[in-house]
Amino acid sequence: MPGIVIVGVQWGDEGKGKATDLLGERTDWVVKFNGGNNAGHTVVIGGEKYALHLLPSGILSPGVNAVIGNGVVIDLEVLFQELDALGARGIDTSKLRVSANAHVITHYHRTLDKVTERFLGKRQIGTTGRGIGPAYADKINRVGIRVQDLFDESILRQKVEAALDQKNHLLVKIFNRRAISADEIVEDLLSYADRVRPMVCDTGLLLNDALDRGEVVVFEGGQATMLDVDHGTYPFVTSSSATAGGAATGSGVGPNRLDRIVGIVKAYTTRVGAGPFPTELFDEKGEWLRKTGFEYGTTTGRLRRTGWYDAPITRYATRVNGITDLVMTKLDVLTGLDEIPVCVAYDVDGTRFEEVPVNQTDFHHAKPIYETFPGWSEDITGVRRFEDLPQTAQDYVLALEEMSNTRISVIGVGPARDAVIVRHDLVD
Ligand code: GDP
Ligand code: IMO
Ligand code: MG
Repeated sequence: MPGIVIVGVQWGDEGKGKATDLLGERTDWVVKFNGGNNAGHTVVIGGEKYALHLLPSGILSPGVNAVIGNGVVIDLEVLFQELDALGARGIDTSKLRVSANAHVITHYHRTLDKVTERFLGKRQIGTTGRGIGPAYADKINRVGIRVQDLFDESILRQKVEAALDQKNHLLVKIFNRRAISADEIVEDLLSYADRVRPMVCDTGLLLNDALDRGEVVVFEGGQATMLDVDHGTYPFVTSSSATAGGAATGSGVGPNRLDRIVGIVKAYTTRVGAGPFPTELFDEKGEWLRKTGFEYGTTTGRLRRTGWYDAPITRYATRVNGITDLVMTKLDVLTGLDEIPVCVAYDVDGTRFEEVPVNQTDFHHAKPIYETFPGWSEDITGVRRFEDLPQTAQDYVLALEEMSNTRISVIGVGPARDAVIVRHDLVD
C-alpha cells in the first residue's frame, strides 16, 4: 500500500506537516508536489519546533528521501536558507532530490506579486507575497524558467529575456516601477547552479522505481482543497493544484499509484487572506479560538480568521480528492466550550443548500445553519485511545465522521508528534 497522499481539507494550516511527520518512521520517500514557500508547516518533535516552508516536512525524519516535484515553484534562495537552517540543527538533508522540470521563482515574480496585489486594492487576494501566482502564470503562459535551464547559460539568458520583455513594459508603464535587467536575473540564478546541480534529476523516474519496489511514498500537499486553483473559492485561491490529482501531475506518477488519500481537517476552521468563509466568527468566540489554537500564520505572521467546523466543506473535499481517511487535528483546542456549533448546511437567501454551492455569489451569501453539540471540560491532551475521550468529545467526532462520508482515522490532541489517537492505521 505504498502511495499515500496528504491533502488539506479546508483553507490550509490544518496540520499537514504534523501528519506527514507522523508517518515519518514508516515512510521511504516524501514528495512535495505543489506550491512553494507560501506554505508554512510547524512540526514539534521532542519539544523542538521546526517551521518549514519550501521543504516537505518528511525531511525531518531520519532516512527519508525527500523530493521536490515538478509541480512545485522553487525560490532557490529560500531553498538553501532552509537547508542551511536544518543543517545547523543537525538534520541530514543530503538525500533531497529536485525535479529538473520544477519552475523557479525569480525576483520579478516576487515584485509582480506585490505590485499586482497593491493594484487590486480592496479586491486583493491577500497572497503571501512570495511570487507564487506570477511564477505559475509564467509556467502556464510558457515563459517560465525551469531548474534545468540553470545549466545552459545561453538558453537561460534567452528565456529570461523573453520573460522580461513584456514584464518590463508592465512594470514601468503600468506599475511605475523600475525595469529589471536580464543580466541581474541570470547572474542571480546562475549563482545557485553549482549547488543545486547534484540534487537535480528525473524525480518522476525515481518515484516510479521506488513504487515498483514497494516502498512507501508520501505525497505531501501544500495549501488545501478550498485554496485549489480549480476546486477552491476562486479567485481567492492559490495558483496550484492542491487537491489529490495534483499529486500525480505534480510528481510524475500515474493516478493509479495513489492508494490512499488522507485529508487533514481541523476540528474547527481557519483561513488566512481574503475570500468567503461562511462560519467565520467576528466575536469573542473567534478571538478565543485564535488564542487557544495559536492561529497566527507560520509564513506571514498574519492573524488567521477563525470559525466553527463546516461539514459541507469536508464532504466536498472528500468528493473532490477521493479521501479515504481523515486526520482530525486540534480537537484539544475545543476543550472548555459549553457547546460547539457545527455548520451542517447553508442558507442562501432563503434557500437551504446541503452542499457547497457551485455558484460563487451563492457561496459568498451562504449563512451557516448550525447544529450544536455539547462540549467537554476534561484535559484530553494525554488521551491516546478513542474510548478514553470524554463521551461528548467522542460524540462530536462520530457526528463529524457521519457528516463527512469518510472515516476519521486519526485525531490530534496536541501539537507534539505523539499527541494523537489512532483509530485506523494510515499505512497497512
Ligand atoms: P500545515 O500548514 O497544514 O502543516 O499546518 P500549520 O503547521 O500551518 O498549522 C498547524 C498548527 O497546529 C501547527 O502549529 C501544529 O504544531 C499545530 N497542531 C497540529 N496538530 C495539532 C493538534 O492536534 N493539537 C494542537 N493543539 N495543535 C496541533
Ligand atoms: P499551508 O501549506 C494557508 C493563501 C494566502 C492567500 C492565497 C493565495 O501552510 O496550509 P499565494 O501566496 O499562494 O498566491 O496566496 O492562499 N495561502 C495559504 N493559506 N496556508 C497555506 O499553506 C497557504 N498558502 C497560500 O493567504 O489567501
Ligand atoms: Mg501552514
